Amino acid sequence: MRKLENKVVFITGGLSGIGKACAIAAAKEGADIILADFKSDKVNKVIEEIEKENVKAIFVECDVSKFKQVETIIQKVIDTFGTIDIALNNAGIGGTASKVGKMTEEMWLQVVNINLNGVFNCMRHELAHMWKQKKGVIVNMSSVMGKVGFSTSSHYVAAKHGVIGLTQTAALEYATDGIRINAICPGFIDTPLLTKIGINNHADAKQRIIDLHPMKRLGKPEEIANGFIFLASDESSFISGTTLEIDGGYLSE
Ligand SMILES: NC(=O)c1ccc[n+]([C@@H]2O[C@H](COP(=O)([O-])OP(=O)(O)OC[C@H]3O[C@@H](n4cnc5c(N)ncnc54)[C@H](O)[C@@H]3O)[C@@H](O)[C@H]2O)c1
Repeated sequence: MRKLENKVVFITGGLSGIGKACAIAAAKEGADIILADFKSDKVNKVIEEIEKENVKAIFVECDVSKFKQVETIIQKVIDTFGTIDIALNNAGIGGTASKVGKMTEEMWLQVVNINLNGVFNCMRHELAHMWKQKKGVIVNMSSVMGKVGFSTSSHYVAAKHGVIGLTQTAALEYATDGIRINAICPGFIDTPLLTKIGINNHADAKQRIIDLHPMKRLGKPEEIANGFIFLASDESSFISGTTLEIDGGYLSE
């Protein structure tokens, strides 16, 4: 028996990096997958990859920072699939590096609107539905930066700390409703996000980041997906309101 047989899994930011690896891992465990992301030329390829596992996969165009849009999309998904059993609120961006005293309002809001408000927007509508069905699992993507600071990333750090507070509070609110809510805190993972924030294309910067991890390497998206499957499945049936650090030892130094 596969761990997520016949479950409906809603994944934001599912076309790339960690979200895509989680989508493929969930499909291998028998789940149907809804990928919510910006429109992109990757859609058909990712859908094909998921469908190889003999499950259903659909793409919905979505900007998680838009409250009303998220509400409409989640309602449409429920109308089509009948339910959302598991949600992975994963969409996120790195943002532009700056010290607090030089950060513009635009730089701050861009990150907070996606990485924190986007998680709230999704949880708001997922939980309204899960509360009615009296079951569900939510996994939010935080970061090691949800636990400690990182110079020039105050927007990202604040948003990821916020995701943990939101996760813990919602876990308390829904603990007796059959709904479990947890967060994952990855260390630096080798995904296109690292290229977008200029780490992958500069050998020195990349080495400095690698050296922050006691294991002296970056993580792989599949290593985060393993944690996601654990938190999404009944194997973690007594776990709620916690954070799973998958970070090569980053937070132990
Ligand atoms: N890569 C890392 O080192 C790392 C470490 C810790 C946490 N994370 C977190 O993991 C998550 C996934 O990151 P990744 O490394 O896979 O990045 P990625 O850039 O490879 O993928 C992110 C995906 O999110 C989508 N996205 C961005 N903004 C969106 C929006 N407003 N609405 C819908 N979709 C949106 C992008 O289109 C993309 O497909 C993010 O929340 C990120 O902060 C990443």
